[in-house]
Amino acid sequence: MNALMPLPRREIAPGAVHVPGWLGAEEQRELVTACRAWAMGPVPIRHTRLPRGGVMSVQTVCLGWHWAPYRYTRTAEDVNGARVAELPPWLAEWGRAAVAEAYGEEGAYGDGVRVAEYAPDTALVNFYDAAAKMGMHQDKDERSSAPVVSLTVGDSCVFRFGNTENRGRPYTDVELASGDLFVFGGPSRYAYHGVPRILPGTGDPATGLGAGRLNITLRVTGMSG
Ligand code: SIN
Ligand code: MN
Repeated sequence: MNALMPLPRREIAPGAVHVPGWLGAEEQRELVTACRAWAMGPVPIRHTRLPRGGVMSVQTVCLGWHWAPYRYTRTAEDVNGARVAELPPWLAEWGRAAVAEAYGEEGAYGDGVRVAEYAPDTALVNFYDAAAKMGMHQDKDERSSAPVVSLTVGDSCVFRFGNTENRGRPYTDVELASGDLFVFGGPSRYAYHGVPRILPGTGDPATGLGAGRLNITLRVTGMSG
């Protein structure tokens, strides 16, 4: 989003790009305000229940399509049956800009799809309190192999980015801080990843988030209807 100066960026693995400080202070405040509204409904934010009886420590609310293990639907049958809020066009546009930042405006990803065509249709908004974590997993419930765009606001976390074979090593631990962008696509699209730790107290309350971490992932479900 910072158009004036090129930002430092690091390729963690082929197709996996970390851009620290991509979101400016104003954009971070906008996201926090928007997330507060989304958390209220039509489908309220909640801890997702897992099929084997566990409950995720993060709290999640979805836009565009509702994710519950392990599929996308328009309505949240596991919460209140309501249809999820629309994915606002401005957020989908941030997603396109993010992919352009990662791979270049003229670039391509996956099977030669142009960056300009990247059009996410869902966002998973995750809130982590100081104790929340996310185990190593692949994002594989989408029918599209388009990249995943991840935005962080609030407390920093340790983001573990691994390999496409299993949950173990080799992996790279990356600290994701408020405003950071992380995009994973191409050969890294199905890499295992997780959040072993939040670093409490590292966020700036000026974002509007007094504590905890917000993460928004934008994805292409490949669904229609
Ligand atoms: C996710 O894997 O869906 C979320 C990752 C993150 O919170 O950074
Ligand atoms: Mn994931």
